[in-house]
Amino acid sequence: MRTMKIGKSGIEASVVGMGAWAIGGDSMWGASDDAESIRTIHHARELGVTLLDTAPAYGLGHSEEVVGKALVGRRGDYVLSTKCGLRWDGKEGALMMERDGVRIVRNSRPESIAEEVEMSLKRLQTDYIDIYIVHWQELPEFPCPIADTMGFLGELKKQGKIRAIGASNLSDAQFLEYVQAGQLDLIQEKYSMLDRGVGDRLFGLCDQYGVTFQAYSPLERGVLSGKITDASQVHMGVARSRIKWFQPENLPKIAALTGKWAPLCKKYGCTMTQLVIGWTAAQGNGSNVNVLCGARKLDQIEDNAKGGDVVLDAADIATMRRDAEGIA
Ligand SMILES: NC(=O)c1ccc[n+]([C@@H]2O[C@H](COP(=O)([O-])OP(=O)(O)OC[C@H]3O[C@@H](n4cnc5c(N)ncnc54)[C@H](OP(=O)(O)O)[C@@H]3O)[C@@H](O)[C@H]2O)c1
Repeated sequence: MRTMKIGKSGIEASVVGMGAWAIGGDSMWGASDDAESIRTIHHARELGVTLLDTAPAYGLGHSEEVVGKALVGRRGDYVLSTKCGLRWDGKEGALMMERDGVRIVRNSRPESIAEEVEMSLKRLQTDYIDIYIVHWQELPEFPCPIADTMGFLGELKKQGKIRAIGASNLSDAQFLEYVQAGQLDLIQEKYSMLDRGVGDRLFGLCDQYGVTFQAYSPLERGVLSGKITDASQVHMGVARSRIKWFQPENLPKIAALTGKWAPLCKKYGCTMTQLVIGWTAAQGNGSNVNVLCGARKLDQIEDNAKGGDVVLDAADIATMRRDAEGIA
């Protein structure tokens, strides 16, 4: 597995990361098998995947708890990221969504993060977080100036509770506010070959400021693996029902697209998932994109991890982009 530097933090991590959102289960992804999730986290490391991403909001604490159990006695083997800025425990903030009768609000004020970091450390059974990411940004009805948030995250770094700072779901202006307020090492953004807009906006800024671009949902929640021909094959929870590619009229477009690339899979001796991961890792400046794929099953992590070693020729990267632009 290739590795890469995370911003200017001095942290080195696998090019393919493992996301633990689905491990949280709940109505977002449907129930998870915790024992299988833990085996998957362990197997990821055996395959060279060191970067593991979770968040308090994933399963309302459940994903962090499962990750914490998996990492007992192995903490130093992983680069662990988790997040702050979303509360569901009655804390004040700007309403983001109501799910399963729970109000989830945005609040990235220092006094709230001070509570959150302690709760995450406890659930994760660790005394430090490698990359601490502000999950979603302020809404006008509950302002939290980025300079205040960054100031407090800088304090957490001095205390040794976190090693690097990340931010997620940013506008260009918010990106600039972060880098002006302190050392931002990573941004986590939804990016796939079928959803390239954020990269077009932020790749240049990441290159300019030495920030790692971490692409989340690079498989469009599994559909770009080429294995899903009918939505009934997977759990259509809240996470997938938001993705247009699972709609019956769009699945054939995915099948046609991935069908075109069968010769490329043969050329590189890889699966469709690995081809797509290789393409994604080649974006940005060619060495600053980290590919964060979700997985909660052994066969998925085996498939995804090997994508970290697929290096595509420039001509094939360009062909795949043109093909993808043909449908999105
Ligand atoms: N910052 C944010 O706001 C944000 C938002 C979304 C995600 N994220 C992070 O990014 C990670 C990845 O994003 P994501 O989970 O949305 O999307 P993804 O990586 O595109 O898709 C993950 C899902 O696709 C299926 N899958 C994975 N590998 C597969 C394979 N090789 N073959 C077939 N199916 C496969 C699995 O579904 P099943 O489990 O149902 O089998 C898996 O849960 C998350 O886990 C999370 O850590 C961050």
